[in-house]
Amino acid sequence: MNEISRPNNLDAFWMPFSANRSFKASPRLLARAEGMFYYTNDNREVLDGTAGLWCVNAGHGRREIVEAIQKQAAVLDFAPTFQMGHPIAFQAAARLAEILPDGLDRVFFTNSGSESADTALKIALAYHRARGEAQRVRLIGRERGYHGVGFGGISVGGISPNRKQFGAMLPYVDHLPHTHAPEHNAFTKGEPAWGAHLADALEGLVALHGADTIAAVMVEPVAGSTGVLVPPAGYLRRLRELCTKHGILLIFDEVITGFGRMGTNFGAERLGVVPDLMTMAKGLTNAAVPMGAVAASEAIYAGVVDGSPAGIELFHGYTYSGHPLASAAAIASMDLQRAEDLPGRALAIEPYWEQAVHSLRGLPNVVDIRNAGLIAGIELQGRAGLPTDRAVRVFQRCFDAGLLIRTTGDIVALSPPLIIETPHVDRIVETLSDAIRAEAA
Ligand SMILES: Cc1ncc(COP(=O)(O)O)c(C=O)c1O
Repeated sequence: MNEISRPNNLDAFWMPFSANRSFKASPRLLARAEGMFYYTNDNREVLDGTAGLWCVNAGHGRREIVEAIQKQAAVLDFAPTFQMGHPIAFQAAARLAEILPDGLDRVFFTNSGSESADTALKIALAYHRARGEAQRVRLIGRERGYHGVGFGGISVGGISPNRKQFGAMLPYVDHLPHTHAPEHNAFTKGEPAWGAHLADALEGLVALHGADTIAAVMVEPVAGSTGVLVPPAGYLRRLRELCTKHGILLIFDEVITGFGRMGTNFGAERLGVVPDLMTMAKGLTNAAVPMGAVAASEAIYAGVVDGSPAGIELFHGYTYSGHPLASAAAIASMDLQRAEDLPGRALAIEPYWEQAVHSLRGLPNVVDIRNAGLIAGIELQGRAGLPTDRAVRVFQRCFDAGLLIRTTGDIVALSPPLIIETPHVDRIVETLSDAIRAEAA
């Protein structure tokens, strides 16, 4: 065991979204990964039921991506994209535009999903201002939405623990109701039949604030971090119609639904609705190098770029926008996605996945199961007075038994790499089933 696989001091790293005290008292360290598996620092195999954090769609340690990054690092380690350019950033954007839904052709690069969310909101505001509607400053999100951790993302997002520690949010923000309705939709496979009308709440916000004050609506096509909420059939279409009717931009946050997870390149394709702006990250580079992106329609790009005075048109960007190593990883990753038809693989195994996760119905404390693409949410009845405790214990039992799951509140969220095969699905479901039973005993 070397020093990397076994650190002797865990103090300095202030871990993100983690219970630092309990983790450092009893650490779980992943030292390496390959294909569908992680290996702990004591070399225990752990099946990856979450593609890292919804991001390693092509599986771990893909040679093609590693080699592309190595090669690029030796040719051009870094070059600015402010008033300068380098070829591979343009190539990555063009390659991404090829697989984006028709109508989304322009790509702005960021380094994460959070930056993508804030970038999309800023582009929406800049667009309206450029076309003489500077009063459209209001941003509409949705209860339980997750758009990362920037101030834009947490303001428009609707997850209260992510907001209440930090005081003031952005002004001029309002929220649609969430779509979680277990009284109507518990144990639905795929899109629930009930709830398309929940999109009509946008008419209420329009009546309250005036359509001409609203810049954009941002939603996740399938909400992930809140514990997997699949949109009711027809809901997103209705939202699209209302946004178009009122001149409001529709932003899809596809940070987790992009790059094959829904059985198509993007959730928009699967769900049959094209937004005006789309945020991405994670699967874009198979998570090998951090990178995010915002795709915009030609009308939005032209509106901002042609509608601005000569000089810089959008006062926004990151030192690492279009970073050469990230661009190389993105191209290699999109090439792999196409060569191995990862969206097609996800679609082909989805019926098996769906049947397998729904077989957990009837286990003690399982109150709902939902799925879409290669995503599943298993909602547990929380322990009285101890929210999250049951799920955290199930998580630890799974980890001890060689399976990585993710939990949020008392909900288990699963999102395995798209290269998953049926024996892996069986192993995920068996391990989780044992953990849920053991926790009830
Ligand atoms: C829908 C969505 N948007 C944004 C983000 C934030 O991405 P990042 O952690 O890369 O900033 C996430 C992360 O899980 C996400 O699920």
